[in-house]
Amino acid sequence: MATSSTLTAGNGQAQVSVNPLRQGISSSRISQPSTIVFFGASGDLFKRMLMPAIYNLRLEDILPANFGLIGFARTEYTDEQFRDYCKQCVNEFSRSGPIKESLWNDLAQRISYITADFNDTSHFEALKKRLDEYQQQFGAGQNRLFYLATPPSVFPKIIAQIKNAGLEPASNPGGWSRIIVEKPFGTDLASARALQTEVEKVFNESQVYRIDHYLGKETVQDIMALRFANTIFEPIWTRNYIESVQITAAETLGVEGRGGYYDNAGALRDMIQNHVLNLLALVAMEPPASSDADAIRNEKSKVFSAIQPPLPEEVFQMSARGQYDAGTIEGKPVPAYRTEPDVRPDSNTETYAALKLQINNWRWAGVPFYVRSGKRLARKVSEIAITFNAIPHRLFGEVSDTIERNVLVIKIQPDEGISLRFNAKVPGQKNHIRSVTMDFNYGTGFGMQSAPAYERLIADAIRGDATLFTRWDAVERAWEIVMPVLEVWQSIKDRTFPNYAAGSEGPDTATALNPGWRPL
Ligand code: BG6
Repeated sequence: MATSSTLTAGNGQAQVSVNPLRQGISSSRISQPSTIVFFGASGDLFKRMLMPAIYNLRLEDILPANFGLIGFARTEYTDEQFRDYCKQCVNEFSRSGPIKESLWNDLAQRISYITADFNDTSHFEALKKRLDEYQQQFGAGQNRLFYLATPPSVFPKIIAQIKNAGLEPASNPGGWSRIIVEKPFGTDLASARALQTEVEKVFNESQVYRIDHYLGKETVQDIMALRFANTIFEPIWTRNYIESVQITAAETLGVEGRGGYYDNAGALRDMIQNHVLNLLALVAMEPPASSDADAIRNEKSKVFSAIQPPLPEEVFQMSARGQYDAGTIEGKPVPAYRTEPDVRPDSNTETYAALKLQINNWRWAGVPFYVRSGKRLARKVSEIAITFNAIPHRLFGEVSDTIERNVLVIKIQPDEGISLRFNAKVPGQKNHIRSVTMDFNYGTGFGMQSAPAYERLIADAIRGDATLFTRWDAVERAWEIVMPVLEVWQSIKDRTFPNYAAGSEGPDTATALNPGWRPL
């Protein structure tokens, strides 16, 4: 593991231009011309994430030279107004700071907008016409990426209208047509299956890119690199050496104006069914035979198949739920969940969910996987902690010393890195043993900041690389795993809610599920 000291200058500043770890590595421009259509382009996701991502992909010279962007949404804009709006989005939310005018001028002329009613097929026909014009005007070819960034309730309608207007892949033999579907993919197993039925009528699986933005995070991509680009971890990555695995996705934020959505979702649907289970699959999967998207996704699916969904009578033993009360976050008082806008005053929705999962296969039998996610917790932290077995026989340490277990921590955010906890002798005449940490940090290590997940994911979808997108069989199985918990939690009201203070470590029931949680 490289340490930051080998990668920084004497003054501790990262030397971006001379960093030996990045020598010979260039970002690759996508060669195929294409147009991306953002359904829901007047919404929050487009504003905060998608438009800034497009701008930065252009800035980094990754977008194809012949590129076009069409916004398609309800809000009324002229092309000019929409371009101004896009510019504001970049200025406000882009990681690269204020817009560079010359670059923007080139990008802006490739941006247009259609004010649309999703029920009106003629608006989709107008889109088809516009796509043909883009081909003439910008040489954008016949490659089309449709991005569903609307509320999920209109996904089926848009997919049907794509077909009604003759925009389905089958009618576009001269190029590729792909669709990115934002999460959530369904709100339960039945609705996910119903949505998939609609998707399948128009797109085949290789044309569908289901987003889980966690998979686009650099640190999440590095889980596979850590495991399969090294030889030292894989031999011990089994039940013979690993005692337990903990996966945490904790937030300090509350529902941030999304009370209406969140009160019908909850932490299990919002985070565990997708982001957290995807992390678990990357940790637990077998080495794929190749780096091909399906080779990797096959292995992830096998992990999900090996997880036995809990029986209804096991749910309370295998899970913990919580809802935040008023409290203090970073020194500021924050209100209780039930008093947030658009949240029911007697809400039974969990803002914290924890599960104990078992993977019933040769590698993992008997190793508990504890997963947790919650809002308004003590600290924002996403990490995976692998705890190894206790030493079999004690030789060192004074009587009062505890010989801690080795822990490998994959730090996903906000710290990005990998740390290993191991025991060392304290210098001196006595034989004291203390646990110490070896730390690798991406930022100082490679001298660059990780790009936001959406940049990578949009570029991959244009390239046709589905590795970091979730395949239908995995989405379906992930719903099957959480459904018994969801059903029991929904049918039995938790009378202890609210049961944790904002700014705390979570509910006591989570501690009962796993007394060994790492402090946040
Ligand atoms: C989203 C959830 O998918 O992920 C949000 O809907 C959550 O509720 C967010 O806040 C967390 O993402 P990140 O990247 O900030 O960890």
